[in-house]
Amino acid sequence: MAGKERRLYQCQACGAEQSKWAGQCPDCGAWNALVEVAPPARRGGPGAGGWTGAADGGVLELAGVDLSEDHRLPTGFEELDRVLGGGLVAGSVVLIGGDPGIGKSTLLLQALASVAGRNAVAALYVTGEESPQQVKLRADRLGVGVAGLRLLADIEVDRILTAAARERPRVMVIDSVQTVYTDQLPSAPGSVSQVRESAARLVRFAKQTGTVVLLVGHVTKEGTLAGPRVLEHMVDTVLYFESDQGSRFRVIRAFKNRFGAANELGVFAMTDRGLREVGNPSAIFLSRHESPVAGSIVMVTREGTRPLLVEVQALVDESHLASPRRVAVGLDPSRLAMLLAVLHRQGGVATFDQDVFVNVVGGVRVSETGADLAVLLAVLSSLRNRPWPGDRVVFGEVGLAGEVRPVVSGEERLREAAKHGFKLAVVPKANAPRRPIEGLEVVAVTRLQEALDALA
Ligand code: TYD
Ligand code: MG
Repeated sequence: MAGKERRLYQCQACGAEQSKWAGQCPDCGAWNALVEVAPPARRGGPGAGGWTGAADGGVLELAGVDLSEDHRLPTGFEELDRVLGGGLVAGSVVLIGGDPGIGKSTLLLQALASVAGRNAVAALYVTGEESPQQVKLRADRLGVGVAGLRLLADIEVDRILTAAARERPRVMVIDSVQTVYTDQLPSAPGSVSQVRESAARLVRFAKQTGTVVLLVGHVTKEGTLAGPRVLEHMVDTVLYFESDQGSRFRVIRAFKNRFGAANELGVFAMTDRGLREVGNPSAIFLSRHESPVAGSIVMVTREGTRPLLVEVQALVDESHLASPRRVAVGLDPSRLAMLLAVLHRQGGVATFDQDVFVNVVGGVRVSETGADLAVLLAVLSSLRNRPWPGDRVVFGEVGLAGEVRPVVSGEERLREAAKHGFKLAVVPKANAPRRPIEGLEVVAVTRLQEALDALA
């Protein structure tokens, strides 16, 4: 007689396995996400994901690892290369997430064609969602050269890897990771265990052969990749492709990158002939007002390695609530509360009877402290209903004692402002440039009060 059958339930949100069913996953708290899965026939060994070692298990001298070959492969799209940290790294695995229809397939087809054409390397596009005819139609529409670009329509991961081992591409795209599966697991394609196992095999292949593998992943409505946490730690780089609702601009953002800066940003525009790079993104994040309006301040922030001009807007309005509202969009709300306290104690401006709303225009998120001065000036400008002339910019950190502290890359930020025609900048003293910047007057401040005086 067979022993009692072991049951296993897997959370479809986080991948955790439980021996008992529950309405809510004890690990990640997702509701109705536990699904019964067959207990694995074989445990241990590779498959849990990650890099399992050299093919022959050989130990190497770190100093002796060969880097003579060029390990970075430019994609031909500067915006994408910068987000990747300077091109595709041999043997790396990149996950590109985004909502359906945002343009992931378009971007990767364009990038792959460009990689194949520019570097004369073999490139393989594995399509699990569209037929070869559909891909060809799209390529024709995009007008991309398809020399050297090979196509495979398959979704079984071992067949894909067999074909890849035969074709030996330098770069391979899997569109999408949610469609591939292995028939050694009983669960359906798209389930966490399938996505994880398929990705693990693709990662192993990438590391063993030095192939660059780009995985497309659809983001679910909740804003996470299906099986996200299980994939994010397995791959080298996670990029998100996003856009504002209804906007033709697309922002690609590095969320994690083992080979470059995280938070790096690349900007594209969707046109009728595919994605076009936007080399000058500052322009799209500024809403040029006809005449200056109160509560609007332009600041120079830095996203990754590039300065970016963004507009900070504040609306300060009389509050009838016992505890007035503090709302920050694109900024840290607790930092806003702190800045308002500094404004009161060090600047003598009270907002305890006011609702304060602060927003960064264009859906940008500013996580650096260089936004402090801009936020305070925007709040004061709205409170006093006093516009700040449209040709001025500001940046700088504000400390609890009301001191204005420098931020990184001050001069680079000032040059970006000058490039966009700004005439005056209010900046921390230590960020004042040693040599004057043509066309830009710089007001260097050490105390919050001096910056607030600039509004008077
Ligand atoms: P797609 O790359 O298929 O998105 P994803 O792979 O992320 O699901 O992009 C599809 C959208 O892009 C579709 O709504 C049409 C639009 N599009 C253009 O506007 N111009 C083009 O040249 C192409 C190919 C697509
Ligand atoms: Mg697609």
